Amino acid sequence: MSVWGELAKNQRFAEGRHILDLFAADDARGTDFSVRVGDMVLDYSKTNIDPDARELLLALARDCGVEERRAEMFGGVRINETEARAVLHVAQRAGDDAVIPVDGVDVMVRLRAIRARACGFAEDVRQGRFRGQGGAITDVVNIGIGGSDLGPAMATLALAPWHDGPRVHYVSNVDGAHIADTLKGLDPETTLVIVASKTFTTIETMTNARTARDWMATRVADPAAQFAAVSTALDKTTAFGIAQDRVFGFEDWVGGRYSMWGPIGLGLMIAVGAQNFDAMLAGGRAMDAHFCDAPLDRNMPVLLALVGLWHNQICGHATRAVLPYDQRLARLPAYLQQLEMESNGKRVDMAGRDLDRQSGPVVWGEHGTNGQHAFYQLIHQGTRVVPCEFLLAAQGHEPELAHQHRLLAANCLAQSEALLRGRTLEEARAIMAAKGLEGEELDRQARHRVFPGNRPSTTLVYPQLTPFALGQIIALYEHRVFVEGVVLGINSFDQWGVELGKELAVALAPLLEGDDAEAASKDPSTRHLLAYLRAYQNA
Ligand code: F6P
Repeated sequence: MSVWGELAKNQRFAEGRHILDLFAADDARGTDFSVRVGDMVLDYSKTNIDPDARELLLALARDCGVEERRAEMFGGVRINETEARAVLHVAQRAGDDAVIPVDGVDVMVRLRAIRARACGFAEDVRQGRFRGQGGAITDVVNIGIGGSDLGPAMATLALAPWHDGPRVHYVSNVDGAHIADTLKGLDPETTLVIVASKTFTTIETMTNARTARDWMATRVADPAAQFAAVSTALDKTTAFGIAQDRVFGFEDWVGGRYSMWGPIGLGLMIAVGAQNFDAMLAGGRAMDAHFCDAPLDRNMPVLLALVGLWHNQICGHATRAVLPYDQRLARLPAYLQQLEMESNGKRVDMAGRDLDRQSGPVVWGEHGTNGQHAFYQLIHQGTRVVPCEFLLAAQGHEPELAHQHRLLAANCLAQSEALLRGRTLEEARAIMAAKGLEGEELDRQARHRVFPGNRPSTTLVYPQLTPFALGQIIALYEHRVFVEGVVLGINSFDQWGVELGKELAVALAPLLEGDDAEAASKDPSTRHLLAYLRAYQNA
């Protein structure tokens, strides 16, 4: 029987078992089903994975070539086969002595030079050496979308306690409301605009960039002088009018959703300074070293990936909730949606054959405790099982509010405990009886208060959300996505699925101004909606 077959058999057996039975059978399960990297601990004991299933999952990782693929990725092999590219986002956080050859050339030389230039520019902005027409820069507006927005925006919020530079804002949506609301109240004479786009063709970003340039031109004689760009397309940044010394390039082997570690993180560098940015890189680097060196059964990204594969591909739980009990990680679920779903939402394998199992899960979530008052009802009592991933720091950044942090932590632990334990009908009946109910009414009311329990979760804990810890967390998730992709046999580094919609949008835009005849080739629903929009737009 194949390992997948063995796992399916194990899962059928697990279906009739409560996770609490696993704890009853093994006193040490809490630590045995935990893994540590430095100060960070991932507890995956509150899952229905038993020691046999774990062995099978590890065998699956080995059989699928996780170790070989990992060596290829770190070695600069072109593992992004559909785009014939190496996958070297890890190079962006490699140490000073790293040598990483691609086609025989050490890419670290150029990378270090770009990093130094970007950090130098960030410090110039922070120290007031780079100035706008009206004086020192007070506000920075980063215009980008997807990987050119989500990572730096998420990290900028995450590292708020380290903000000591100009205010940094992020604009992504082509909806004019986003840029209009962001620019409102800013002074064009003291604002720096960063246009962040790997391709420098993305329609949302280029449209917003032109809007920002027009806004700047209302007060600034040479608006381009207050623009910087981050892109691989240096010809296009020049054509936009941005001087070379404010253009920061990167290579095509850094995927957009993996790019926050390099110049795409320029806004973050300006917000927190080069030193804190470097500390984040060091955290990512520490996770890289662990991922490369730790045996698979003590390897945090590998184990997190295997837990994910168990829940989605083997147990059939289609979604995964990411629940950071950390206000400043509020953008983490959105960031992970791109990282995980753009990477592993694929329907064919590397050879172009249909996948014979589900692709990556739907990822969603919200920071705690807000989510508790929104969707946790379904997680606890709905008919679908939603595996949950909790994240929690031991300490906050507000010593005077330590009591609030304790309450936050208690809520986080309470949720995973409630998911695990649930509440039986007998317990619910006892509660209702204590309230004075009896007979049929007691039964009826008690049934509404039953929690099935036996619902899986993992918890990642770390001492405090520092730049270093953030780097560890993001690299952990990157490598988890990689391992899941290798086991599924898919290319996690392309994103052809976003292309069709982009092409159709370009063709549809003129139809909003045209007439019915031009829309004739569209389906009846689209024609009908176009007619509605045209009627109101032209009213
Ligand atoms: O949504 C597709 C995508 O290509 C993402 O992969 C990427 O992060 C985003 O668009 C933005 O692309 P660019 O950085 O080239 O503007």
